[in-house]
Amino acid sequence: MKKQTLFVAFSTQKGGMGKTAVTVLTASYLHYVKGYHIAVVDCDFPQLSIFHERRRDGELIVRDGYFKRAAYDMFRSLGIKAYPVKDSTPEKAVEDAQALMENSQKEFDVIFFDLPGTLNSGGVIKTLAAMDYIFTPVSADRFVLESTLQYATLLNEKLISAGKGNIRGLHLFWNMVDGREKTPLYEAYENAIEELGLQIMKTSLPNSIRFRKEMSGDSRNIFRSTLFSADKALLKGSNIDLLADEICEILKLNDNGKQ
Ligand SMILES: Nc1ncnc2c1ncn2[C@@H]1O[C@H](COP(=O)(O)OP(=O)(O)OP(=O)(O)O)[C@@H](O)[C@H]1O
Ligand SMILES: [Mg+2]
Repeated sequence: MKKQTLFVAFSTQKGGMGKTAVTVLTASYLHYVKGYHIAVVDCDFPQLSIFHERRRDGELIVRDGYFKRAAYDMFRSLGIKAYPVKDSTPEKAVEDAQALMENSQKEFDVIFFDLPGTLNSGGVIKTLAAMDYIFTPVSADRFVLESTLQYATLLNEKLISAGKGNIRGLHLFWNMVDGREKTPLYEAYENAIEELGLQIMKTSLPNSIRFRKEMSGDSRNIFRSTLFSADKALLKGSNIDLLADEICEILKLNDNGKQ
């Protein structure tokens, strides 16, 4: 079966829900641990958080002997390079992704797009419509949920059901879940989500301080980085591995992706 690069975005109009953090963590896990060929197009202009994070990560491994050696060892043993992070805008995102694809010797399995939250900013709807899959983080707060459901319903009606664009799936997932278990409230919310014809993923991400910190010289532990995947010990309990695995299943990457 011919391989095809999939375009994927973590997207919601609600700010601060974890789009950028989950993009970095998932991209790094899939690229450095699972061996998929990944690229990231950062089109959340002008913040360009991931683009700048990559620059800081790069500077850190040049400056810090420990990380420098770790990076050298990892890249040598895996025989791969870091995934590209292209700075872009919503208008130019698809064009920039195509240029990445043309200039890469190896076909990408997935290109992640980090988009601005607002549909009003130019080019966002067009770029969303070019995605194959959209994953939407949501937290169990009534107001967040209401606005997220509105957003997802809008995309569902205007783009997916209307057959406009490429989107093959829109999946919500819980982020920042407090406590060890999901409360019965979640079940009630999940029923409401399903009644709207929307899908919620099995995996949810816990609320955990580790998500808030980038790789830094202050600690040898790595969780969030564009140049490494999370350390096994920190990955455990973060559910990023489970989320990424569920995403692979939805994308059917296990069949024809990794080589
Ligand atoms: N599961 C989590 N537990 C704790 N903190 C989290 C979790 N997920 C994300 N965060 C933190 O929440 C903050 C907002 O996340 P992030 O910047 O990824 O959101 P965003 O949706 O990209 O926001 P924006 O709308 O500004 O682009 C960050 O500090 C991030 O590290
Ligand atoms: Mg962001």
